[in-house]
Amino acid sequence: MFRIRFFLNLVELFIMKKFLVIVFLVLAVGVGIYFLNNKKTSSTTVSTQSNSISGYTIADVAIHNTSTDCWMIIDNNIYDLTKYQNAHPGGKMNIVNYCGKDASAEYKNRGGRGTHSMKADQLLKTYLVGTVKN
Ligand code: HEM
Repeated sequence: MFRIRFFLNLVELFIMKKFLVIVFLVLAVGVGIYFLNNKKTSSTTVSTQSNSISGYTIADVAIHNTSTDCWMIIDNNIYDLTKYQNAHPGGKMNIVNYCGKDASAEYKNRGGRGTHSMKADQLLKTYLVGTVKN
């Protein structure tokens, strides 16, 4: 009788231990996942911040009105075209004339020659620095 009891006690202890190990493992994995997730979230926030586009007023853009510092508004987006002007197939002056200004209409009609190509639209996107705010 005593032996059986002792044996049962042992089994009970074994089950308890196993249970505790399982609880510990579940907690450890939980904490691990929590920290990993936290790390991921904060890095996403950082990259989102660095990718975020700033808002500028029309007056802010107007300051960048020279060929060495040339910003332009096209459809409420602001582009820094300082480095592009010399590569423009339509000539440098077609860009410089609109530094610091809104050139939405001019960009769309290419000085009366019709719209720019999709390639030009894609290229334009790479010069985006902000959007117009009130
Ligand atoms: C600001 C007003 C602008 C005017 C008045 C203008 C005018 C012109 C003109 C007249 C041409 C024709 C050149 C030719 O075929 O002989 C041209 C072509 C071109 N422009 Fe502009 N442009 C302007 C802004 C821009 C901007 C901001 C970009 C891009 C960042 C750009 C990109 C191009 C490209 C890639 C072409 C080659 C043809 C095409 O792909 O459509 N232009 N542009």
